[in-house]
Amino acid sequence: MLILGAIAAIGVEVGSVEWKHVRPIIEQHCLSCHHDGGPAPFALHDPESVALRARFIKEVTASGLMPPWIASEYGLPLQDERGLSDHEIGILAAWADNAHPMGDDLKPAKRPPESPAKDDVVVTMPETWTVPAEGKENWGRRDRDKWTFVLPIGNDDAIHVRGIQHYSTAPQVVHAVTYLADPTDASQWKDSRDDMFGTYMTGDIRDRPSGELGGTGVGHRKLRLPEGFHWDVPRGSDLAMEVHYRPLGRPLRLQDRIAFEVTADQNSRPLRTLISMVRWIDVASGASSTVEDQFVLEEDVQLVGITPRAMGTCTALRLTASLPHGEEVILFDAPDWDPHWRQTFLLEDVYELPLGTVIRGTWRIVNTEGNLRNPFVPIERLSMARRTGAVSILLHVAAEDPEADQRLQGWHRELMRSRMR
Ligand code: HEC
Repeated sequence: MLILGAIAAIGVEVGSVEWKHVRPIIEQHCLSCHHDGGPAPFALHDPESVALRARFIKEVTASGLMPPWIASEYGLPLQDERGLSDHEIGILAAWADNAHPMGDDLKPAKRPPESPAKDDVVVTMPETWTVPAEGKENWGRRDRDKWTFVLPIGNDDAIHVRGIQHYSTAPQVVHAVTYLADPTDASQWKDSRDDMFGTYMTGDIRDRPSGELGGTGVGHRKLRLPEGFHWDVPRGSDLAMEVHYRPLGRPLRLQDRIAFEVTADQNSRPLRTLISMVRWIDVASGASSTVEDQFVLEEDVQLVGITPRAMGTCTALRLTASLPHGEEVILFDAPDWDPHWRQTFLLEDVYELPLGTVIRGTWRIVNTEGNLRNPFVPIERLSMARRTGAVSILLHVAAEDPEADQRLQGWHRELMRSRMR
């Protein structure tokens, strides 16, 4: 009776759902990706293109496949959450079941206006790169589905970045992109080891994970921090950008542009990245395993956002906090992890994590053929180790004041060192 209830709630009878009832749902939940030139394979502006796919749309919305959103409701509330209400799913289903009547109002669906980004500092890939038509084999028998580029920023002074916007020349193939500001020569050096522009290696620099400056995802190419927080880009930095892509069957030209919105707020505090990680995983062929990491916070911090990182061998991940007074809180939960939809998740409200909080990351690893997202086929023993974690979750946090910030960084550097021992 879900559908009857849903329709009654909008004052329309089951048989009379028309395009005008469907349109606002498409506008609000689908057009951020399904627009002309967007990341999705087809646009959903015209009533005809939506009608053509009415049954398909009913299926993917009823099953929760679309709109894509990997975080469950058990974690902290997140910005820009995606999802349909039962009402909305019911309306789409009723329209499909009733041979999608159009009615008189045939206005096309329009993408809601977005607040324009402030492009204070713009960095562009210095060369173009060609996204290959197909994935290739590499050292790990894995598709070469990522590439890291170095974009010189050449800033004479430190920049306090409040917002990041990614403009892509190939939005349909670019998935998750993570960023890191590197004031050393390390990323240039990595890139210069062969003649190619960019490298297949990660964007990590030693103990620093790509994603320190967050990451953008499909249909979410803009990150804007809450007021009073920024990412620090030291003077003379390069932007190391790790791009994950999905080949489309034809080569595509990539020359992306990253725009930073800069804050002039003197009291703005820098975000630092804490890593929950498991450095080494070893799972037999055909086996599954749950791996866990925990550490105790040695400083009061405010949690602003979370960036999960794991390949498709991981099927679920979770980040929890045991607060000093005993309360258990789920910070982030992805019960059906799909790396295709990963991004930085900014919290709806900044969350206080006091000194003494135990932070715990958990990852479910399924090294079987039944795991359809396992990139390693045929299945073999999965054994991998990385300085910044074979699986990890980044916590973007700010300390109380500059002194606490210094202590926080010192403590975290030591934590990373101890993990290498
Ligand atoms: C965050 C971006 C995004 C949003 C929002 C989104 N889609 Fe999609 N959609 C995609 C992409 C990308 C694909 C291509 C398949 C893939 O990448 O998994 C897709 C594929 C589809 C497909 C084809 C499914 C398939 O298996 O090939 C349908 C149907 C669809 N979307 C409908 C919708 C509807 C209806 C909505 C709104 C309720 C919606 N999508 C919202 C990005 C999005």
